[in-house]
Amino acid sequence: SVPNYARLMSDICVLGNFVADNSFYAKQLPVKGQTVFGSGYQVGPGGKGSNQAIAAARLGSKVNFLGKIGEDANGKMAIDLYKKNNIDQKTVFISKEHPTGVAGLMINKDDGTNAIIVCPGASMEITKQEIDKFSNLVTSCKVFLTQLEIKTDVTLHALKLAKSGNAITILNPAPAIKIEDEFFKYIDFFTPNETEAEFYYGKKIQNHDEAKLAGEFFIKKGVKNSIITLGDKGVYFSNNETDFPVPALDLKGKVLDTTGAGDAFSGALASGLEKKMDIKECLKFAIKVSGISTTKKGAADAMPLLSEIN
Ligand code: RIB
Repeated sequence: SVPNYARLMSDICVLGNFVADNSFYAKQLPVKGQTVFGSGYQVGPGGKGSNQAIAAARLGSKVNFLGKIGEDANGKMAIDLYKKNNIDQKTVFISKEHPTGVAGLMINKDDGTNAIIVCPGASMEITKQEIDKFSNLVTSCKVFLTQLEIKTDVTLHALKLAKSGNAITILNPAPAIKIEDEFFKYIDFFTPNETEAEFYYGKKIQNHDEAKLAGEFFIKKGVKNSIITLGDKGVYFSNNETDFPVPALDLKGKVLDTTGAGDAFSGALASGLEKKMDIKECLKFAIKVSGISTTKKGAADAMPLLSEIN
């Protein structure tokens, strides 16, 4: 039997991956077979789950992160990140056999858009038994947040566990991959972006009317609340009782890097829900956090502090 760390408590429990992001900035992204000169390069902390945990922690929530890294320099980058952001490292497993994950990002210097390849490394090796070691954390947190960058059967196991307790569950279904229909009934908040929503819906989403139809589709599947993020068209919220769009933010700063903008949104949504914000207020807050994150380079490093939002 495995020990249960009953004394660890948090407002938000995030399950997901950490990877070291290798980001290349260029005036244009290369197309197949092309080589272009870059104008900048940086290595920094990334991975959707870890980015979301940092986003919520910087907004003042007490966060735990369940993930797995390797025993290497990139793993040390993760540990340093959690130390700096008040996240307990006890819930981060260290693999002796697998390296910390890495990602290669190409970022367009003019508009901040990107293309990403992620190699999850040790993150993919986290097991259901390891999740169960922290079952108390998963069942007793106020909000449980996860994505699809680790094994899906482990994600589903953790979602079920969270729902067996009192947690509000959020699934950020990224990257878009096929999931069993069973998933949907364990999801309180489903937060795809436009392209991910199109993948699960099976149709194009070009405006609010189409986002409303996609929202209805997700609710029928079993999700309690659907939040589709639509870039400059804002977000579209739907549940059984109501549906409405929330406009995007008029950004003061220039967009430098959109990496992690969706993570900032999901992390902020978790933080807002944990603080019992009204849903409209919570969505405006998450849009703000996500918008501000695009005015800085990097992923986890670009997550704003609560003081910057206010
Ligand atoms: O959502 C952005 C993240 O996706 C990046 O940090 C990259 O690591 C990939 O996981």
